[in-house]
Order: sequence, then structure tokens, then C-alpha cells
Amino acid sequence: MWSSNVTFTSGQLHLSGLSSSVLAKEFGTPTFFLDETAFRSRAQAWNSELQSQFGAKAGTVFYAAKSFICTAVAQWIEDIGIGIDVCTGGELAVALAGGISPQRIEVHGNNKSLAEIDKAVSVGVKTIVMDSLFEIERVAAAAKKYGKRQAVMLRLTPGIEAHTHEKISTAHEDVKFGFSIASGAAWSAVQKVQEFPELELRGVHCHIGSQIFGSEAHEIATDRLLEFMGRYRDAYGAELPELDLGGGFAIAYLSSEKTVEPGDVLPAIREAVERACQKYSLQIPTVSLEPGRNIVGPTMFTLYQVGTVKDVVVENGSVRKYISVDGGMSDNVRPALYDAEYSAVLAQRTSTAPLVSSRLVGKHCETGDIVINEIELPSDIAPGDLIATPATGAYGRSMASNYNHVPRPPVVAVKDGKARVIVRRENEEDLLALDVKE
Ligand code: LLP
Repeated sequence: MWSSNVTFTSGQLHLSGLSSSVLAKEFGTPTFFLDETAFRSRAQAWNSELQSQFGAKAGTVFYAAKSFICTAVAQWIEDIGIGIDVCTGGELAVALAGGISPQRIEVHGNNKSLAEIDKAVSVGVKTIVMDSLFEIERVAAAAKKYGKRQAVMLRLTPGIEAHTHEKISTAHEDVKFGFSIASGAAWSAVQKVQEFPELELRGVHCHIGSQIFGSEAHEIATDRLLEFMGRYRDAYGAELPELDLGGGFAIAYLSSEKTVEPGDVLPAIREAVERACQKYSLQIPTVSLEPGRNIVGPTMFTLYQVGTVKDVVVENGSVRKYISVDGGMSDNVRPALYDAEYSAVLAQRTSTAPLVSSRLVGKHCETGDIVINEIELPSDIAPGDLIATPATGAYGRSMASNYNHVPRPPVVAVKDGKARVIVRRENEEDLLALDVKE
């Protein structure tokens, strides 16, 4: 659950040798601390495993920006030399601000605006992934305007129920994303693309959901997409050269879970690609992936400070300790939205007090503002203590809100014993900045 440079010495959590008390004093709480070395090595691990499994047929690892992006991280992505998947004009702007080469940018989204399409085509992104028939026409029009031939992929829904929370599973039939293979929509999209000489159909894509353990769901998707690519070859006599299998690789939020490592799943995915290519008599296409959570998730923890502690007698007469921290659903909405589970530790001291049933809650005016519903924590936790929750790097800061006008926390990158702010803390001025005074 903890990133590789987190250590515990005499009850103190340290990141790259910096203690949580020192970090809290310098940067305040709540704060997301990002282990930069771990981020870089996780991104590189996906890239090198893709290279080692697919060799010349390795496509690109497109880091999914939605999991967490800021200009500094975009610069790291460019340094590391992988690509990025953006799904809005905002994410595209950050990728460009970080200096990512447009040829390493892939554009997603089920409802890209005309302005977003225009920008993507004009800067020369590598691929735009098509999600509707309207969009095929819109991208073709933009390509025509700029006198370009735009490379496109089709997002397909292969009809798979990946075992994850309903709200983050995306490739069964009844979803807003992509073109269904089963219904024939995917084939209509292929035909539509052929109408436009400004579009170059490079291949097919799917993203079957998020926080998926194992490789089975990706293997089934691989077979269905390659079967579709076989149909394309039968109809048009040429093979589509690219396959993109999306992201979705799970991480550990609890000590009972194990983060999926690239070496755990990519060999099986490579075998699935080979099997299907043989079955449908296809050449091996280049294979790309879009991991987001798996790269950034394990590399951040959130450091909170305890503000109040309250013993509440619950229905069966037992006592539950409510520990309130200085953040909550504004910096981590995942428990409220997906019943996501997290763990936490007392971060700046050891305690020999007995463990008691506790609920870690935030400071928002809402009963559902819960960070951890049920956790055993030392009974002597008191105001001023620091609490760290691991694995908050993905969809934490990126889904943060200003609910109750709480300023969003900063992100502090730590590398080789040095810490620096890469996203600053919001302040009251920021909160008032958009209001127009009457
Ligand atoms: N590619 C596409 C097209 C996607 O839609 C997504 C995520 C990814 C890649 C990256 O998936 P990952 O590797 O991070 O699982 N907010 C939710 C997760 C939503 C994911 C949306 N799409 C959460 O907090 O669990």
C-alpha cells in the first residue's frame, strides 16, 4: 500500500527520509505527498514490460491523465518518454504545458466539444479515439480545415462485465462509452470512417473498467477486439495496425490486497494477443495501454491532522470512536462515491494503547463524509495527531472539490530527501476569485 520510499522508524512515517512531523510542519495538512522516484519507476516499469513482451510490436504506454495530472507530472511523463491519454481540453492543456510532444498524446472523451477537437487536430495529437458517429464527422471536418489526415482509433465495447464497482466498469453493453461490437454499432463506425479521406483508421481500443485484479478480463477483451480486426481485414483486405487495451489495473488499498504489477499481467495479455492473432490469421498489431491508477495510485499518501475525537454509543451499546481529520470528502470522494475502502496509520508517534473500533471522518457537513468507515486505531489518538492514508494518488486530488468552500490540498513531490510543492494549496482568495460582486 505504501510507496517504495516510505519507511517507519520509531513510529514515525518517513518519505525519502523526511518525517511526517517535518513534512506537516513545512507544508501543513491535509497534503498529498507524492513519491516522485516511485512514480517514475512505476511508469518506467509499464514501459519496459510492454517493450519486453511485445518487442517491435510494443505500442505506447499512455498514462491516463484523469487519475492525476499537473504540469510537473506532465514534464516527468515527457522525461520518461511515455505517452499520455487526455480526455478533455483541460487535460490536453496541462499535457502541452508540461511539454509533452503532441505525437505522444492520445485524445479520449465521449463528448468532445468542437473546440476540443479543433485544438487536438491543430496541435497534431497522435490519435483521437472516436466515441460516436457525430464525432467521426466532426474530427473529419477539423482535419479538413487544417489540411491534415488525422489518425483515429475506434473505442469499442466488447461486452465484458469486469469485476469492479458498477460506476467504474465501462465495457458492458449498457454504457455511454464507445461502439458496441454486439449491436453492430462498431461496424457502422468502421463504415462511417471510410467516408472520410481525412481520417486514417489506425485500430481499435477498449477500456473495460477500473481497479481490475488479474488479467482475465483484458484477455477476453483482447480476443473480441482481434476478432473484430479480423472482420475488418476480411471486408477491406488490409489489417488495422494498432490495438489499445486501455487501463484498469488494480492497486492495493488494504493490506489484504496486492497491487497488480506489469509483470503479473502483461505476459498473459501477450499470450492472449498471440492466441487470437493465430485464431483470426492476423499479424500481431502494436499493443498500447493506458494505466492511470496503477502508476500514480500507490505513489501518494494523504497526511491529515486530527481535530476532534468523539466517543459515540452505537445501537448495540458499544462505543465507536469518531476521529475527525482536517479534510475528507473534498480531497477523497471515493469512499462516498464507490464505497471505496482505505487504510490509515497514526503517522508521527507509536502508541501502545489498545486498538478500538474507529471511524475516520472529515470536516464536511455531511454524514457520508467518511474516509474510513471502520478501522481499528489506538484508543489514545488525540487532537494534533497526524494520520496518513496510503494509496490516495489516483482519483484523489483529481476528483477533489471545494465542497463547503474547503480549499483543495497541495501536492508535494518528494525525491532524494527533498520536498517541493508541485500543486500549491488553494486559499480563500482562490475560493473568491470566480465570484462576481454585486
Ligand atoms: N483509459 C480510459 C479510456 C479510461 O476511461 C480510463 C479511466 C483509463 C484509461 C484509466 O483507468 P485506470 O488505469 O486508472 O483504472 N474515478 C474512478 C475511476 C474512473 C476511471 C475512468 N476511466 C475511481 O476513482 O475509481
